[in-house]
Amino acid sequence: MADSEKTVFEVLKSSRRYLEAKGVAEARRSCDLLMSLMLKCKPLDLFFKLDQVLSNNLLDAMRRGVKRLAENEPVQYILGEWDFMSHTFKTDKRALIPRPETEELVQLILECEDIWAEEPAFIIDIGTGSGCIAICLALAKPNSRYLGIDVSRDALALAQENAGRLKVGNNLAFSDKELCDLIEPDSVSVVVANLPYIPTADYEALPLHIKNYEPAIALDGGEDGLNIIRAVVEDASMVLKNNGYIFLEMDHRQGVAISELLEQLGFYNISVKQDMAGHDRFVVAQLTVSS
Ligand SMILES: C[S@@+](CC[C@H](N)C(=O)[O-])C[C@H]1O[C@@H](n2cnc3c(N)ncnc32)[C@H](O)[C@@H]1O
Repeated sequence: MADSEKTVFEVLKSSRRYLEAKGVAEARRSCDLLMSLMLKCKPLDLFFKLDQVLSNNLLDAMRRGVKRLAENEPVQYILGEWDFMSHTFKTDKRALIPRPETEELVQLILECEDIWAEEPAFIIDIGTGSGCIAICLALAKPNSRYLGIDVSRDALALAQENAGRLKVGNNLAFSDKELCDLIEPDSVSVVVANLPYIPTADYEALPLHIKNYEPAIALDGGEDGLNIIRAVVEDASMVLKNNGYIFLEMDHRQGVAISELLEQLGFYNISVKQDMAGHDRFVVAQLTVSS
């Protein structure tokens, strides 16, 4: 393999400058991630390789990646994988890129002792996307049963691939059916959902690296952002057991509306929780089933 005579340092610097001139966000971080993929090392270890001369093949591959970044494609799709809760998930345009806030949602469930006291619990992840929530729960608590539901067959195919790559057992299944068509009333321990919650007007104004690449069906929640959440919360109230839990991720302005909706449907212990950035981001509640 012939050498290009360009060092890692030179290529990182010119790539970063090129992307910054194009107004691409987080140019340095994306270039580092791309280069570490090329060199099969961790981004932190790039520091020790700055003087390495790139082969022509690697230089061409890096240029192709930088060209995609310049077109605003998210680095997670270019890399083809991304870490979520210390597990590496395949990522591509079939599903939303797993976000750090959602790791906090998974953590809330793992920390809820009530749920695991009744193992095996039955947990449904609605809007499973890449499968990141259901898969991380199934890996952490393998004695319970899990179902990931999504309207997008593309997303479900990716979730299946991720479950296979991460060697999840047969206690996790996926489906594109409606919750109430699949599940008996009064049978589910937990419903967790990170659904599309962005109001349509805000969706239209999203940065290009999100709007042009991530699926609209994963993001656009209708006029007030609550169209899908409303329907899913109502369905959840039909299938949850008495004292069963619901965990929702939401837009920071939706806490009051979602809490009111939950109360109308018979939920109690309703609490709005903040993410690491201090924004209202999650709602947790339990259902009282009247006998
Ligand atoms: C915000 S993404 C979340 C994906 C994944 N759970 C995560 O946290 O990364 C929302 C997902 O909900 C799915 N979705 C949209 N409408 C839905 C509906 N009515 N029922 C079930 N899933 C739906 C989308 O296809 C998308 O995969």
